[in-house]
Amino acid sequence: MEIFSENVIGLDIGSSSVKAVKLKKTNEGYEITGAEIVSVLSNSIENVSPDLRHSLYVDAVKKILRAKNMTGKKIVTSVLSAENSTIIRYVGLPYMTEDELKNQMPHQLEQYVPIAQDQIAYDYKVVTEYAEDSQKKMLVLIVAVKNDSMNQHMSILKDAGFSPQAIDVDPLALCNAYTLNAEEETSELRLNTVALINIGAKSTILQIVEKNVPRFTKDISLAGNNFTKDIMREFQLDFPQAEELKKQQARILVESEETLLDTVRDANDEKVIRINDAMKSSLNKLFQEIRRGFEYYENNNKKQAGSVQKILLSGGSSRIQNIDKFLAEKLSIPVEINYPFKNVNIDSKNFDLDNLRLNAVQFNIALGLAIRKVGV
Ligand SMILES: Nc1ncnc2c1ncn2[C@@H]1O[C@H](COP(=O)(O)OP(=O)(O)OP(=O)(O)O)[C@@H](O)[C@H]1O
Ligand SMILES: [Mg+2]
Repeated sequence: MEIFSENVIGLDIGSSSVKAVKLKKTNEGYEITGAEIVSVLSNSIENVSPDLRHSLYVDAVKKILRAKNMTGKKIVTSVLSAENSTIIRYVGLPYMTEDELKNQMPHQLEQYVPIAQDQIAYDYKVVTEYAEDSQKKMLVLIVAVKNDSMNQHMSILKDAGFSPQAIDVDPLALCNAYTLNAEEETSELRLNTVALINIGAKSTILQIVEKNVPRFTKDISLAGNNFTKDIMREFQLDFPQAEELKKQQARILVESEETLLDTVRDANDEKVIRINDAMKSSLNKLFQEIRRGFEYYENNNKKQAGSVQKILLSGGSSRIQNIDKFLAEKLSIPVEINYPFKNVNIDSKNFDLDNLRLNAVQFNIALGLAIRKVGV
């Protein structure tokens, strides 16, 4: 009997689908007791009115949280990602006490967050302490969210009949899920600087983690929807049709395959090549944005950090065939698909395990959200 072990639901409201993971702490570690994914809309949500968008989200949240394996009151969610609505900054400051830091915050916000302070909600946390020029310093993570986005998010949850215990942001949830899975790794591996890259529908998150400490975040507004739009244009399809074609047949032709396909060409190969060519320019832009992120990070963290040694890829668009090989080739860094449930037990009595495995890469953020409050 486990009287005190409470389930926590991590609710990831993405632009194309809502994901939920129900997690509890057991004597052996963590256990997943529920996992659901509900698509928000078959068309691109960017093109719908704010009212319709709101009601589509409310319906999706209701549907997911009313699934039979999702009952529970403790919910952690992340703020809806909207253009420039969330600002994440890492600021190196001289070591100071908690009170001193609190008093410093308005000044730091003024400097690093380009939005008036009465228009944001913010939080901060010391992520690590370090020495620089024989001075004790600390790295402070500041997260600021525009009130508009926060209110929009809260009203979706309220209209769906739920109230969250805590609110987080996607990049940090991604980091928490990584930390849970990295626990098993040897300390030597954990010293590595790892880039977590989550390619969703509307945006790609780049989160650099060093020794389990988040160091750098970049939000890139280029992801699955862009690839779908490329395919729409090339094949004169509507959004749902292009989305389907992408999921069924998109495969990035990495260098070794390109030469192969010069010789073998049937109708199917032709289609794969056309899809690949249509997506090429978006893929290159994505890779350049990632590379710029790496360069920025490396140039600004010379004293503490090494260069990125490994990429862990997640999000629905990491399911595009060969996207891992493509990034590995372009960036000359090993890329792994980031399976989020390496270090958790799965109790699949109440849900479809095959479905969970198939969609696993879409659950990293929901898992990371749930971890934050489990056992608290
Ligand atoms: N098998 C697949 N092949 C290619 N793309 C896929 C596949 N499965 C899902 N996707 C794409 O993944 C994206 C959805 O992923 P995800 O659920 O991580 O995004 P989201 O959280 O809704 O979006 P965002 O985080 O950008 O708000 C869509 O663009 C979808 O087309
Ligand atoms: Mg997402």
